[in-house]
Amino acid sequence: MAEAAQNLPPIQDIFDPNSRAYMENPVPQCLALAERGPIVWYEPWQAWIVTRMEDIMRCWKEEPLSSDFYDWEFAPPRPPEDEWSNFERAMIGHSLLAEQDHHRLVRRVTAPAFSRNVVDAIQSKIEPEVKKLFDELGTPEVFDYKQEIAFHIPFISITRMVGIPEKYWPEIKQVILTFTEAWNPTISDEQREAARQDSNRAIDIIKKVIDERRAAPEQDDFLSTLLRIEQENEKFEEGDIITLILALIGAGADTTLVAQQWSVYALLKNDRAQIAKALASPDAFSNAFCEINRWGVSSKMGFARYAPRDMEFMGEQLRKGVMVLMMPHLKDYNPQYYEDPETFDVERTFNPDVMFGYGPRYCIGAALAKRQLFLTLSELFTRFPNVELAEEPERDETDHNAVVFKRLLLKTNIQ
Ligand code: HEM
Repeated sequence: MAEAAQNLPPIQDIFDPNSRAYMENPVPQCLALAERGPIVWYEPWQAWIVTRMEDIMRCWKEEPLSSDFYDWEFAPPRPPEDEWSNFERAMIGHSLLAEQDHHRLVRRVTAPAFSRNVVDAIQSKIEPEVKKLFDELGTPEVFDYKQEIAFHIPFISITRMVGIPEKYWPEIKQVILTFTEAWNPTISDEQREAARQDSNRAIDIIKKVIDERRAAPEQDDFLSTLLRIEQENEKFEEGDIITLILALIGAGADTTLVAQQWSVYALLKNDRAQIAKALASPDAFSNAFCEINRWGVSSKMGFARYAPRDMEFMGEQLRKGVMVLMMPHLKDYNPQYYEDPETFDVERTFNPDVMFGYGPRYCIGAALAKRQLFLTLSELFTRFPNVELAEEPERDETDHNAVVFKRLLLKTNIQ
């Protein structure tokens, strides 16, 4: 209505993340959407979009909206508690996504399990596996980085981090790769049912692993840490451990697969002097990764929230259950935020750095994600210092959440 009154073109004509134009170059569309105002109704998705950083930061920090998928108006109905399967237990009783007080408790008691020291210790478990992956790759002239390397990294990191024994790897591998589907708001009922069954299988495996670990001596991994936390905090229970592990799988698998692709692509598409700067140390990479992400603008949907009731929000009347998408990536080429935004500079200053969110729901796995990327990219450029893109990678139209590549062919240029 507002569009007609102001004679503006329909919103989907200026912003359509599923269009070929967006996948080739999202920047003009992101800038045009932000121009429309701080909060924009996006008819095709029946969702509001929050476009400006000051409002997004406020939402992240104060949480006026719900993060619970089941609060979405188009989510499948919330079944009664006595009919919950493991899947609903994980999704509805999800300690990280649902009720705010319990979320705070879980974050507070588990914070030590994600500290930098723990990530340092996990590095020693992940590093040999990354090297093994490259050993198995050998020295081909050309290879698909996505298929041969990137695809395996989330699995390696999550199983090592949690402490899932090797005998369960074949079973859990497929589950890790498809589990995130259950949170995808755009999939069909059949796809959600398949994801639901995978999730139930994953939960059965996690329960077995927990039972075995309770009977075994404490080990140096995440699961042992969580079992200790469970003993020390009466409000932190086995269900929390399961949902937390599922959250790690759900939030840590797809994100790192996307990040792997864009990190390699960005470093190979730009001035090669940036590669050494980016990989000079884990801290240098931490900053470089913000720039990789800014330069690539891979996000399509941003971060979803749902109106918990009929409410006023940023001057608009929201109906209960409506989706609100926060899109921090709209700012990535806006000169008001970044000087000379076309330039790729891994030493650019980010203040604040919001790559991993902000406030109470700041990414739990940020340190781990950056470390696994640092390790893998260091290995790639050490083994193949003259590596180049073998072709401009074709974008994969089937991914609803991010611009990703169908494959990422690299030429090793090994003599
Ligand atoms: C490069 C990879 C990653 C990126 C860019 C990323 C980014 C983010 C962002 C932006 C959020 C906040 C989402 C929101 O506000 O709705 C988040 C939350 C989260 N991330 Fe990550 N993440 C990455 C990898 C990981 C990994 C590897 C793990 C686990 C091992 C992980 C676990 C989580 C969890 C559990 C949350 C929810 C936290 C909460 O609700 O309290 N993430 N992530």
